[in-house]
Amino acid sequence: MNLFKKTLAIAIAVASVAVVSSVMAEEEHEKASPEKMAIEYRQAAFSMIKFHFAPMGAMVKGKMDFNKDEFAKNAEAVAALSKFPIHGFPEGSDKGADTEAKAEIWTKMDDFKKKMETFQVEATSLAEVAKGGDMAAIKPQFGKVGESCKACHEDYKEN
Ligand code: HEC
Repeated sequence: MNLFKKTLAIAIAVASVAVVSSVMAEEEHEKASPEKMAIEYRQAAFSMIKFHFAPMGAMVKGKMDFNKDEFAKNAEAVAALSKFPIHGFPEGSDKGADTEAKAEIWTKMDDFKKKMETFQVEATSLAEVAKGGDMAAIKPQFGKVGESCKACHEDYKEN
């Protein structure tokens, strides 16, 4: 083999390894286990909840100007999103990806579901109260929603 052919052969070999490994990486990605998908799903749901919850907290604490329309929009989003996380806790999803969910969730599922329902009920009430735009009424109801997050995190979330 002359030098040109040798170089060409090496170049083709390198290129095909690159193609094969990128195809393999893609397959690996597609093969995400149901447990990993569930964990990512619930973490995404909680991230969305936090995105809407945080500005309400800042307004309640006076760290951000109170804008009643913004507040009401965020409260409505949290009420809607509160329906989703429970779908992300199927049996077996205590592991399969990085997670802060404690194993007790699956041994005390009735209590876990009850805490999730309390959150849903309080978040739905907050969305109602927020429509009125009265901070004096909003504040205690916002507090109840915050307590419902905390009550669950204390028992069922690491950190
Ligand atoms: C019934 C239980 C429960 C309730 C209610 C709840 N959480 Fe969580 N939350 C969890 C668990 C469990 C995790 C850990 C999920 C994981 O890592 O797999 C979590 C994780 C999170 C995370 C981290 C998400 C990430 O990116 O890893 C945020 C932020 C969060 N919750 C915010 C909230 C807020 C805000 C509320 C209330 C408005 C709330 N949660 C209500 C159980 C709950």
